Amino acid sequence: MGYSGYQRMDAQERDYIQHLFGKHISRGQVRYLRCAHLDIYERSRRGCTMVDAVSGKKFFDCFSSAGCFNVGRGNPKIQEALEKALDSWDMGSHLALSEPKIRFAEKLASLCPGDLKKVVLCTTGADACAAAIKLAKGATGRNDVITMNKAYHGHEGFSLSANGKDYYKELFLPLMPGFHIAEFNDLEAVKRIASKDIAAVVLEPVQGEGGIHVATREYMTGLRRLCDELGIMLIFDEVQTGFGRTGKMWCMEHYGIVPDIMFTSKSISGGVYPNGAVVYRDIEPLTSYVEKNPLFHTSHSGGTDLGCIVSSAVLDYLVENKVWEHAAEIGGRFKEGLIEIWNENRHAIKEVRGLGLMIGIEYKYEFLGALMADCLAKQGVWAVYSGNAPQVMRFQIPITATMEEVEELLGRIRAAVKAMKIYLALFLPLAKVPLFRMILDNLKVQIISFNIVRDLEELLFKYVLKR
Ligand SMILES: Cc1ncc(COP(=O)(O)O)c(C=O)c1O
Repeated sequence: MGYSGYQRMDAQERDYIQHLFGKHISRGQVRYLRCAHLDIYERSRRGCTMVDAVSGKKFFDCFSSAGCFNVGRGNPKIQEALEKALDSWDMGSHLALSEPKIRFAEKLASLCPGDLKKVVLCTTGADACAAAIKLAKGATGRNDVITMNKAYHGHEGFSLSANGKDYYKELFLPLMPGFHIAEFNDLEAVKRIASKDIAAVVLEPVQGEGGIHVATREYMTGLRRLCDELGIMLIFDEVQTGFGRTGKMWCMEHYGIVPDIMFTSKSISGGVYPNGAVVYRDIEPLTSYVEKNPLFHTSHSGGTDLGCIVSSAVLDYLVENKVWEHAAEIGGRFKEGLIEIWNENRHAIKEVRGLGLMIGIEYKYEFLGALMADCLAKQGVWAVYSGNAPQVMRFQIPITATMEEVEELLGRIRAAVKAMKIYLALFLPLAKVPLFRMILDNLKVQIISFNIVRDLEELLFKYVLKR
């Protein structure tokens, strides 16, 4: 069977491809997605929607690959920039000087506040996180790093060590030494660990995987003051929050403070060519550290010529369309709509929170995140709960969504929450018993039971309803 790309596929073809995915990539991943009806094949990806190649059904993309599609899926301007670039450019030699790299770095620096003017070109979010931490450690000559509870910075090396949830880390111990975890939004907790031995404090201004927690202004200004006092490098992870997502070009702008180092990725690539970057202040000891150690962080795929051309086109698009203003406007209406849904369902929903178009619904119990994903998928909403807080359903639609699309999406979410009522009637009383709650919250139990339900559902459709 050939590679069908964007063509429509029938159920038989889907089963075969799923079998191959399981055989060569991961059976566990198929089962994980299948249990919440998230095992779709994205065809026709445009704006804030995609179409499932099997069912032909339209889905709103509320995950956006955790923040990769701020400029919309398949943005024609960005695709055109990549197509044109391929006429004359390739990735380029990573050690060579090149015009695309220089133009991109200049453009990126010009859009950053304060003296964030120097750029290290990277590949991914995790790679940029490693570069930022290495820069802080190298420049200060200190070893230790403070990161936040429930933080997510990536899956490798320094970024894995910086994560604030054991789940990702415990299989790979021992990790990098000298990482200390503090409670997010708790300045006193950071003060208890902070000293002149600490190289950096690293945080996301809005925790994404941690469950959409927005840093408070007092916390951020307090961190800035503390880092200044002790010579600690303040590092912001703007991988998810950057490029207009929270209603400003950078989330840091909400707080009026500038970190010493910022790293980013994801939407920098317009969803078509991976790229990442660290931007740091043109100050000592950072600048002279990089001057003396120009190759302290390089990779053949970091800041490629193609990636930089695409990223420059993304920056132009963001500025021309003031995408952050659109995020603030439609994000405001979206949040208002979700709050209405919260008010109608106070027995199950604990809170709705977020900034711009980075919004989460927090349920009262962890297992409700998986149920919500399932009910949303059935309503044509592809959404994934926060990795480090399964009770929080994240909504990060591409920022190109129109107000009409936001209203349609809200209608679908309302229908999904309504469809959950039957499950809630069954499970909410059970969840009050600690043993049952432990079972319900267990991911393995969820995957097995949801897959059984899915198998039964497919048998029903095939043999009884003959569809
Ligand atoms: C806040 C944050 N930082 C870092 C990363 C890691 O990025 P990548 O997947 O490109 O390694 C992610 C990915 O989800 C993220 O959300």
